[in-house]
Amino acid sequence: MSTKTKARAVLLAAGQGKRMKSAKPKVLHEVLGRSILSRVLTAVDALDVEHVHVIIGHGSDQVRDFLELNRPKTPYSVHLQEPQLGTGHALQQLLPALEGFSGTLLVTVADTPLLTGETLGSLLNTHREQGAAVTLLSAVVDDAKSYGRVYRDDEGNVAGIVEDKDASPEQKLLREINTAIYCFAWPEIRDGLTSLTNNNNQNEYYLTDVLSWAYQGGLKTAAVVADDWREVAGINSRLELAEANRLMRDINVKRLALESGVTIVDPATTWVGPEVSIGQDTTIMPGCILFGDITIGANCFIGPNTVTHGPVVIGDGTSVINSYVANSQIGSHCKVGPFAHLRDGNVVGDGVRLGNFVEIKNSTIANKTNVSHLSYVGDADLGSGSNLGAGTIIANYDHLTKKKSRTTIGDNVATGSNSVLIAPIVIGDGAVVAASTAATKDVPAGALAVGRAKQVNLDNWADNKRKQKSTSLT
Ligand code: UD1
Ligand code: CA
Repeated sequence: MSTKTKARAVLLAAGQGKRMKSAKPKVLHEVLGRSILSRVLTAVDALDVEHVHVIIGHGSDQVRDFLELNRPKTPYSVHLQEPQLGTGHALQQLLPALEGFSGTLLVTVADTPLLTGETLGSLLNTHREQGAAVTLLSAVVDDAKSYGRVYRDDEGNVAGIVEDKDASPEQKLLREINTAIYCFAWPEIRDGLTSLTNNNNQNEYYLTDVLSWAYQGGLKTAAVVADDWREVAGINSRLELAEANRLMRDINVKRLALESGVTIVDPATTWVGPEVSIGQDTTIMPGCILFGDITIGANCFIGPNTVTHGPVVIGDGTSVINSYVANSQIGSHCKVGPFAHLRDGNVVGDGVRLGNFVEIKNSTIANKTNVSHLSYVGDADLGSGSNLGAGTIIANYDHLTKKKSRTTIGDNVATGSNSVLIAPIVIGDGAVVAASTAATKDVPAGALAVGRAKQVNLDNWADNKRKQKSTSLT
């Protein structure tokens, strides 16, 4: 039977994850800047499924809020499992929601951050092709840790799964493990699910027992063995979380180096997420952390120690040295850093220079403008070819009214060192603001604004002081 049945996905995400020793639900812990849950949902989104049921329980408010903010593409619903009495009990929570449904249930644990849509897709295809009641995704490992072990009959059919805590010494030697990712034919396995017992060493209702129920009842069971067990590994402790980070980093470094022609000087200290794309002949120096949707052009020089939080776009030939960039766009042939801080919401043109100790927030900067030293630019629109002198500060925030105001700076404007532009303010094209000016009103195009105390020179004042000092000592 290879006709395409309707399919729904189920994510089991109600468990506490005791071994994480965390107040946060396990599935909200992050791997390379994104939660495990959202990584699993991305894999599910790649499939043609009509709905995702997410079983929540431990930390349910946090998981619910997270899903509201990070909605999967596939329509979803949450189902509360309270108390959490095991993976079988988790799926039982869906009995009302599955009333009338007929098709494939793709059930996955939600603690597998490296899971891909491809793997889930091939599980779904095999399940449909074989017309099985249960198709299991298994993996062959050297160290079976605490995984459930898969046992087969003499003909190689999957006969059941025994949990590590219930396994005999002989069964513990088995090296084929249960990934806890399955396809079930619904409603064919319904009776198996409702008849589960908790008669085991953990007093839990194990979803795994549905498999032996199906086998013993003469229903067809099948298995897909994962190509690489590491992709389907469940995270149970912080050490395994760290391992998953390393593994995902290695996969991404390899992809960028081998497929995109990127020089990654030190793979071990370059933390790039799977959402990162980088152009040819760009060099990534040690210590970079590139998380989120990041697109970096060709011939760029990034790092050392540059941190980006996506979405970030960086054009060709730009360097970003020792800097932090969040949710911003930077054009081509720019020089950023060392020690620049681009906070959220900036759009920077081409050939722009943002130098050391410069902070930019929610601003647009047109081509070939320089903000080279020790400046704050917040809520401002800067024209092209302008130069903000060292220490220019845009005072965008009124502490008393708690209001932020915008600043507009035209083309070819020059501000002197230590000038303060008090927003809201407009500086016209070609205007000059003298050093140390506190500009409180608009400056017309082509004008000079000077707003500082006039200098007074007191002749011989310093010499006289020194003389006084030396006579008092004698
Ligand atoms: C489970 C499997 C084991 C498999 C392993 C793979 C069972 C009984 N065991 O064990 O065979 O080798 O996964 O990683 O299924 N959950 C709920 N409600 C609960 C309990 C758990 O939703 O009441 C969810 C958790 O949030 C988690 C997943 O189910 O995402 C797995 O739970 P976990 O406690 O990690 O199971 P394992 O002991 O790893
Ligand atoms: Ca697990």
